[in-house]
Amino acid sequence: MVSRSGGRLRGGGSRGAPSEGSVSCLLLALIIGVCCVHALEMNTGKVPFLEAVNGSTVLLPCTYASCIGITNLYFKWEFNDNGTMQKVADSVIPTDHMEPNKVQIYRERVEYVGSSKENNISILLWNVTFEDAGVYTCFGKNPKEKGRNHSAFFTLYVVEELKVVDNTLTIIIASCVGGFIAFLMTFMLLKNLTLFILAKMEEKNKECLVTSSGIDNTENGLSGSKSTPKKA
Ligand SMILES: *[C@@H]1O[C@H](CO)[C@@H](O)[C@H](O)[C@H]1NC(C)=O
Ligand SMILES: *[C@@H]1O[C@H](CO)[C@@H](O)[C@H](O)[C@H]1NC(C)=O
Ligand SMILES: *[C@@H]1O[C@H](CO)[C@@H](O)[C@H](O)[C@H]1NC(C)=O
Ligand SMILES: *[C@@H]1O[C@H](CO)[C@@H](O)[C@H](O)[C@H]1NC(C)=O
Ligand SMILES: *[C@@H]1O[C@H](CO)[C@@H](O)[C@H](O)[C@H]1NC(C)=O
Repeated sequence: MVSRSGGRLRGGGSRGAPSEGSVSCLLLALIIGVCCVHALEMNTGKVPFLEAVNGSTVLLPCTYASCIGITNLYFKWEFNDNGTMQKVADSVIPTDHMEPNKVQIYRERVEYVGSSKENNISILLWNVTFEDAGVYTCFGKNPKEKGRNHSAFFTLYVVEELKVVDNTLTIIIASCVGGFIAFLMTFMLLKNLTLFILAKMEEKNKECLVTSSGIDNTENGLSGSKSTPKKA
């Protein structure tokens, strides 16, 4: 629409149309891309960390959600022990709302307490020790999505005794700030990418116009200075 009023576009509306179409295509592709990434989602809760006293029993929460349904969903809990991932538990859930066949447990004091009715694959960690502290990964793979991997993380802190909320508050603020910065960066990246592609398109369009202006067809006579007095 905007380019048409520029007057340089002599070939009628047909030149403006493809660029508008491409923009819609691009937006559609972006939307679809975002949707597909989130076909399966693992979730360790709004507050994905916990401070527990040694000797206490803690719940490591995890739920999953899928907008396309699941078939033979493979899930696994892992513990990051100084960089090496140790399997904690795993199993396969045949279909939606069906309990897993048999949940294999690879670590002591671990109990599976999930329920497929609630898409819940949480585990319980009994009598935690200081060695249990660290990052736990809740991992899921839905064969319906060609084996794409999805994970969520839960961090366990083990302390001798619970201190005042100061520490927790700091962590909350830190995660909030971190999350916000990540969001901003993603947003800027997407924006720049879109602008870049749009600029590229614009460039292409301009090139087309420049070359086509050689083959003169100034029936409309919109471009004042440039139009050669052909009809006169
Ligand atoms: C927690 O650890 C401290 C220090 O090692 C120990 O004194 C205490 O008994 C432990 N508490 C439990 C409940 O195991
Ligand atoms: C874990 O990492 C710490 C610090 O990087 C190191 O001192 C310790 O030896 C490591 N433990 C194991 C079991 O690798
Ligand atoms: C946890 O500790 C209690 C008391 O020490 C013990 O009776 C219980 O068997 C322990 N549970 C597991 C799963 O180790
Ligand atoms: C998952 O199941 C456990 C054990 O039944 C429960 O404590 C926990 O609240 C459940 N989590 C969610 C998000 O429903
Ligand atoms: C998905 O996870 C499995 C098991 O952890 C791994 O072998 C595989 O390389 C991962 N695939 C992708 C695409 O990340």
